[in-house]
Amino acid sequence: MYIKSLKLNNFRNYENLDISFEKNTNILYGDNAQGKTNILESIYMSSTTRSHRGSKDREVIRIGQEESHIRVCINKCDVDHEIDMHIKKSKNKGVAVDGVSIHRTTELFGLLNVIFFSPEDLSIIKNGPSERRRFIDMELCQLNKLYYQNLSSYHKILNQRNSLLKQLAYNKSLMDTLEVWDDQLVLYGSRVIEERERFVRMMNEIIYDIHYNLTSGKEKLEIVYEKSVEADKFKDTLVDKKNVDLNYTSTQTGPHRDDISFLINGIDARKFGSQGQQRTVALSLKMAEIKLVKKMINDDPILLLDDVMSELDSKRRASLIDEIKDIQTIITCTGYDDFIKEQMTINSVYKVVNGTVSKE
Ligand SMILES: Nc1ncnc2c1ncn2[C@@H]1O[C@H](COP(=O)(O)OP(=O)(O)OP(=O)(O)O)[C@@H](O)[C@H]1O
Ligand SMILES: [Mg+2]
Repeated sequence: MYIKSLKLNNFRNYENLDISFEKNTNILYGDNAQGKTNILESIYMSSTTRSHRGSKDREVIRIGQEESHIRVCINKCDVDHEIDMHIKKSKNKGVAVDGVSIHRTTELFGLLNVIFFSPEDLSIIKNGPSERRRFIDMELCQLNKLYYQNLSSYHKILNQRNSLLKQLAYNKSLMDTLEVWDDQLVLYGSRVIEERERFVRMMNEIIYDIHYNLTSGKEKLEIVYEKSVEADKFKDTLVDKKNVDLNYTSTQTGPHRDDISFLINGIDARKFGSQGQQRTVALSLKMAEIKLVKKMINDDPILLLDDVMSELDSKRRASLIDEIKDIQTIITCTGYDDFIKEQMTINSVYKVVNGTVSKE
């Protein structure tokens, strides 16, 4: 699949934008704070309904305006589709696909598969577990609509169970209702655990070779899913640890406490890896993600590379360029001399200046 064109109206610092993209490598370059990342953000939103920066809807609307529009025309299996997202200041956003409004955002997932790679992603190994969970969740949501439903149901029930635990601190008469929430939590939670298990297993099948090559055979990488609890033991653990949860007035067990670790030659890279090793693992993780998505959707995802090339050394840059040569890539940078040095084929170049984009 590839993006043919993007139109923005009152999105971030764009009043109006209308650009078309080539099937392969597209470069957006310009000075800082001109609007390069904003373009990638709008594409990411039209794929996942959310901002990659975690911004609220009203923050992406151009300051002083009431609403904003993102229109993306994509080509998938030789058929054109249009995604039209209408973002409003105080109401939920509306989305239409090929002119027909969709009622649930989940209906949008999977239509446009994008992979976002930013310099912050290079810190995923050393950051906290919530970012690693977010990485898995964002990917699984795009690949599997049911995952999104199970995960959001899980979080709803978790919030309700946690409110009940707080009430139980002073009103013990509600104790019997706890079990009702436990059953629901286990139902959705175990599905989340099983999907994450499958995801880590598939990533492991791919990442080993990628990382081995990136490190010239020096490092054997393995991803380990550190689950808070096994799916089939979730119910029993909730019962066993009921008093712990009552003490903390929140649920201490479940996939909301999961993490993943990265073993380099058997040693935990989160704790013992050098900065360079951790960044290489993060790069392997992204490259494995591209390969996995390709395999799962049997099509090419679109890669959004936000100023990440300048963060990599020449060897790693060359590996990444080699990995992405067949898929549509939209790259932002402040200058593209490095790509020319790497002899990368560039299909189109745009200069971004203060919310305007011109083709070179
Ligand atoms: N809601 C908004 N309305 C208007 N302008 C906005 C809004 N949100 C952000 N901006 C402006 O967008 C610009 C930043 O855009 P962006 O993050 O895309 O820059 P960039 O070109 O990627 O820069 P860098 O190279 O530093 O990453 C800033 O000038 C900021 O003030
Ligand atoms: Mg930027």
